[in-house]
Amino acid sequence: MRIDIITVLPELLRSPFEASILKRAQDKGIVQVHVHNLRDYSTNKHKNVDDYQFGGGAGMVMMIEPIDTIISKLKAERDYDEVIYMSPDGETLNQRMANSMSLLQNIIILCGHYKGVDQRVRDQFITKEISIGDYVLSGGELAAAVVADSIIRLIPGVLSNETSALTDSFQDNLLAPPVYTRPADYKGWKVPDILLSGNFANIDRWREDQAMEHTKTRRPDLLE
Ligand code: ADE
Repeated sequence: MRIDIITVLPELLRSPFEASILKRAQDKGIVQVHVHNLRDYSTNKHKNVDDYQFGGGAGMVMMIEPIDTIISKLKAERDYDEVIYMSPDGETLNQRMANSMSLLQNIIILCGHYKGVDQRVRDQFITKEISIGDYVLSGGELAAAVVADSIIRLIPGVLSNETSALTDSFQDNLLAPPVYTRPADYKGWKVPDILLSGNFANIDRWREDQAMEHTKTRRPDLLE
C-alpha cells in the first residue's frame, strides 16, 4: 500500500512514522508513506497556500490551485482508490472503516488547515471525508496519522503475531478482555486463577465472557 499525505506542516507527520510498528511496516516494504509539503506546489512568491474567504469572515481558506497541482501530479503517476480529506465534519473513523481501507492499494490523505479548504477541492477531488471524533484539532495532521496507523497495522504481515489484530478491541464490535503478565501475585493483587490453569478452552471462554461483560458495561451501544 502507498499512502500520500498532503500537508502544510510535514514536520508533524515525521515522527509517527519513524517508530515501532509503522516504521517496521515501511522497512518491510509493506507500506510506503510519502509526506508532501503543499507549499512546494504554491505558485506565488511567498509560498502562500491560503487566502481570505469570499464573502468575508474570520479565518483563511486553503486555495484550490496548489492542491489541484499536487493531486493531479500524483494521479498522473498512479491510480488512487480514495482521496481522503481530514475534517471534523467527515464520517467518524471506526474499526470497520479501518478494516476496509486496509485492503486498498493507494490512497491520498489531504490535511485541512485554517478554516478548511475551498469547497471546490472537496467537490472535485475528495472521495471520502473522515473525522477522528467530535472535537476540533488545529489541523488534519494528527488525525491523518491516526487514520494511517489504524489502517497500516491491519495490513497482513505488519503485525508479527497476525492474530493479535484479530483480538483487538472493536474487531468484533467487542472490547478486548483484560490481560495480565508476571508476577502472578503482586502485593496480594492476584491474576485470575483461570489464566494460570493451562485449560485453554476454559481460558478462551473466560476471555469471551469478559469481553462481553466489559462491552455491556462500557459500550452497550456496540452491541445494539
Ligand atoms: N481536523 C480538525 N479536527 C479534526 C477531526 N476531529 N478529525 C479529522 N480532522 C480534523
